[in-house]
Parts: sequence; C-alpha cells; structure tokens
Amino acid sequence: MTKITWLGHASWLIETADHCILLDPFLIDNPAATAKPEDFQSCTHILVSHGHFDHISDAAAIASQAGATVISGFEIAEWFAEKHQIKETVGMNIGGKISLPFGSVQMIPALHSNSLPDGSPAGSASGFLLTISGQRIYFACDTAFFSDMSYYAKGVDLAVLPIGDLFTMGISDSIHAIKTIEPKMVLPSHYGTWPPIAVNIQQWSEAVRSETKAEPKTLAVNDSIHLPASN
Ligand code: NI
Ligand code: MN
Repeated sequence: MTKITWLGHASWLIETADHCILLDPFLIDNPAATAKPEDFQSCTHILVSHGHFDHISDAAAIASQAGATVISGFEIAEWFAEKHQIKETVGMNIGGKISLPFGSVQMIPALHSNSLPDGSPAGSASGFLLTISGQRIYFACDTAFFSDMSYYAKGVDLAVLPIGDLFTMGISDSIHAIKTIEPKMVLPSHYGTWPPIAVNIQQWSEAVRSETKAEPKTLAVNDSIHLPASN
C-alpha cells in the first residue's frame, strides 16, 4: 500500500511500509500548508523537481534533520551537497532512471524555467515517474503540456498534474494532458495557493469526468489516497 498525501501547493508526501518520500517540500512560507518541517524527521528521501522557492525552500532543512537523501537534477543535487552540506544526494538528468530502496525513479522532462535562490546553475526543470510496488505514478511537477508526456507516462496508475495556470498548464491543457496520458486516476496540484493560481476545482473535476476516462480525486490539504500494491 502506498499512501499519497497533499501537503498544499505542489508539496506531496509518499509513504510506503518502509519509506517516507517528500516531493518539493514547501511548508513554512506556504500559505496553504499546515505541516511543519519537523513533522518529517523520519523521511528517507526528498525529490526536488526544480529550484524555484515554492518547491525547494524547506528541502535542505528537512534533509539535514532527517538525514534524508535528496534526489534532483545533477546541478541541484550538487548545490545541496556543496551549499547545504547534504551528505546523501542523487544527481540525475532528464530521461535517466535509478532504482532506490522504495522503487524506481525516472526523471521526466518538464517545460518550465529553472533557477536556484543564489543564482547557481540549476539545469533543467523536471518531473518524476515513480514505480512503487508495481504502481506507476507520474508527477508532472511544474510544466506546460507537452505531447511526450504520453510517451513517458502512458496509462499510469496515477498522474499528478498542475492545473493552476499562469506558471504551469491550466485546466484546459490539463484535460488535454489527461486525454493523451490516459491515467487511471488523476490528482490536481499547484493551484489555489495564492489568488493568481486560484481555480474552480469543481469545474476541473467535472471536466475530467465528462471529457476523459480518468478518475479525478480532489484532496483537501493533508488528505491522502491509498494505492494498492499491484505485485
Ligand atoms: Ni516553478
Ligand atoms: Mn511552482
């Protein structure tokens, strides 16, 4: 059983029997989040999609406190090691895959800009395709729609897509993405945190139901879904 919890904005917690994985932890300055960095002392891994503040701001503190491994693009992994003395890092690049104790991680392209808070080189922004206990989970992270999403993520058990518009794709492009990816289930992300990315979530859910075959789930902050193991 894999438990997936929305921490608000684009921050996610993925828990398996033996591992606790954070994706893009943004808690202290996140007006939508109630979880605190100290809640994640037992986290084992932190995935960082890109260096923008709303994805990275609490990652170094949590990684230090928890002794968690940071997995990110090569340049960002080096930055965590050199600038934040994070001992365990995994630097990847687009298209690459690695087996980790909880499952496999593939770094997927994302059509988005990238930068680090101090101006250090940040490489490419990315998404992640996780395979955990036979379940395939696609976190698109911050991105526009691009047609190769379906090459990497066709038929995944769960797709987590940004829908807030302005900085990422919005509702109508997310529907297009769902039609091409054909996930079994879809969760929205990167919306509602601030007024510029407010959306009518009911409208999104109804559009997913009426225009695609995927099952939309909308979570309140700190709510979870469970994915059964399929092997
Ligand atoms: Ni961003
Ligand atoms: Mn963002």
